[in-house]
Amino acid sequence: MKAFCFALVSAAIAATSYASLLPRDQSFCTDAKTVSTTTIAVGDKEVELTQLSCGTSVTKRQTATPIPNICGEICQNVCSDSGNLPPTTEDCQTIVDAITILNGSVSPTFTVDGGHAQTLTFGTCRFFFENLALDSVENCWLAFGQTAAAAGSACFPPVQPVHSEGLCLSADGLWQVGAAHS
Ligand SMILES: *[C@@H]1O[C@H](CO)[C@@H](O)[C@H](O)[C@H]1NC(C)=O
Repeated sequence: MKAFCFALVSAAIAATSYASLLPRDQSFCTDAKTVSTTTIAVGDKEVELTQLSCGTSVTKRQTATPIPNICGEICQNVCSDSGNLPPTTEDCQTIVDAITILNGSVSPTFTVDGGHAQTLTFGTCRFFFENLALDSVENCWLAFGQTAAAAGSACFPPVQPVHSEGLCLSADGLWQVGAAHS
């Protein structure tokens, strides 16, 4: 029932304010500052995992306990552009492999503070999770990877030849997941 309600809400958003959703990614995390960077080895490849703090207007709050987990929540795919070219399928697949490693070797879930983002980058491809809320949220690595890959598949060749970014926007507008050209 919960998922059904989310689907109705996101359908309503898509019908009424589709265009207003598009600039959200451009306006979010414009003054991003790198908080930390680590690398995940995938065979002889290195995928970069970066935590970003977005802008100066975000003040750290007392975080709700337990931290809400948005794993598996419905989101709405939107194609956007962050450059001219889509990433290559091979580079995005290496990020999916890194996510499988993170799930198995670190933790099945990760937490992103309010007003922060997390990116995984390899070659031409970047997967990201942006938390636009004031409070922290938790997500599952595998769900994140599947959502980002699906958003990319919906927007990159051969489905869409021109886009460089595939987003999945939450129904409440508080987080987004995406795949883009790095
Ligand atoms: C994800 O990690 C859990 C243990 O944390 C493991 O049981 C599961 O098989 C992993 N899934 C994949 C697809 O690797």
